[in-house]
Amino acid sequence: MMDSWVNVAERLGSDLHLELAGPGSRRAVLIHALREAVRDGRLLPGTRLPPYRSLAADLGLARNTVADAYAELVAEGWLIARQGSGTRVAPRAEPVRPPRPPKKAAARPAPPSHNLRQGQPDAASFPRPAWLAAARRALNAAPHDAFGPGDPQGRLELRRALAEYLARARGVRTTPDRIVVCSGFAHALRLLFGGRVLRGPLAVESYGLAFHRSLLEAASVRTVPLSLDGHGARTTELEHLKDARAVLLTPAHQFPTGGPLQPERRVTAVDWARTRGGVILEDDYDGEFRYDREPVGAVQGLDPERVVYLGSASKSLSPALRLGWMVLPEHLLDPVLAAKGEREAWTGVADQLTLADFIDSGHYDRHVRRMRQRYRARRDRLVAALAARAPHIALTGIAAGLHAVLHLPPGTERATVEAAASNSLALDGLAGFRHPAATMPARDGLVVGYATPPEHAYGPALEALCRVLPPAPAGD
Ligand SMILES: Cc1ncc(COP(=O)(O)O)c(C=O)c1O
Repeated sequence: MMDSWVNVAERLGSDLHLELAGPGSRRAVLIHALREAVRDGRLLPGTRLPPYRSLAADLGLARNTVADAYAELVAEGWLIARQGSGTRVAPRAEPVRPPRPPKKAAARPAPPSHNLRQGQPDAASFPRPAWLAAARRALNAAPHDAFGPGDPQGRLELRRALAEYLARARGVRTTPDRIVVCSGFAHALRLLFGGRVLRGPLAVESYGLAFHRSLLEAASVRTVPLSLDGHGARTTELEHLKDARAVLLTPAHQFPTGGPLQPERRVTAVDWARTRGGVILEDDYDGEFRYDREPVGAVQGLDPERVVYLGSASKSLSPALRLGWMVLPEHLLDPVLAAKGEREAWTGVADQLTLADFIDSGHYDRHVRRMRQRYRARRDRLVAALAARAPHIALTGIAAGLHAVLHLPPGTERATVEAAASNSLALDGLAGFRHPAATMPARDGLVVGYATPPEHAYGPALEALCRVLPPAPAGD
């Protein structure tokens, strides 16, 4: 009898355990083990098997025994052998015992053919080579203590890089010791409200991300909507909110209606925070992406002791990284760190160090510049398509960000979103972003994300969009 569970991982480049136990000749036992591995899917169709000599050495068998076993399995149709490309699992040698799906697995709907939902940057543009190079440099340079338990405030390398970058690119006034690294904006909200650093009621904009509202609701935070217009949130309404001590704003680019918060309204918000002892939460989710003039600086620069600046890599790089940062007033630093706990439990050190290098080496700026050009070109294609095909549809929020709002004739939003769905086009209507207690008049519209589709799919997605837009009302 031979050894059981021999690992031939090194030869295959992936784990494969062959159970070489049982009666019979060595050749028969090996044939049986390989057949079982193919049958139950551990060796997938197309997988290249190790050369005879290597497998024989791994298993302590004679080379001829392995060659005979392969030949037998080729004859049976389990394997194929080709001159020059070795022996592989036959393409149709499907496992006859595929693993059973979990009992309650819900059938996943087929993905839509076209996706113009807002929310995602272009995943195909993730800067893989530059990120890999940054990771290599960062891990090589990291001191040993980087691989101990993580500091909940975040790696100093990253906080330094962010302090410099945010000051330069976003007008944020900070030092590295006021920055806390977290795993995105949603995590920051959880820390601030779930961790009882701040309490409700929280003033929010009448249109925003439902996910963030539900996250606040889960932390028992009541949200009170501020009206919006073309100048952003009406911050003058803050003084009428008796109990609110915090307001959440998207000053660079109101989410999702577009448009920066007007300077006077910024000042009104800061004055309110000063007189009430309140704080402004500044969600700067896509502040870097401004196309027609310089980015609008952060409100935080007006008063770093009254504004919590919240940034994220989700739009600039990828939401999958789960990396974000909070720039805190002094009085909130210790409470936020207490909410984070004694050990970092959220953001991996390897990604923090990589991002620090990515910023320091200029790649972050370069990537943002490249993406700005790409998104601007996409925005221009959207504008051109509508001008040509649906000139009666007004478009706003186009100066910045990764999405725009299309204004529809009254009463047509729902039917348009449904028509899109039945044409396999994923789209969001404005209604899904509206705060349930909002009192400002509702408008019919679509929030169109133009960053998401890969380059080749964007034209067809625009075409699908133009097909489902409502026609101009009679008389237009
Ligand atoms: C309004 C808004 N804020 C913040 C974010 C960033 O969220 P996170 O950092 O949790 O991915 C997003 C999405 O990217 C967003 O749409």
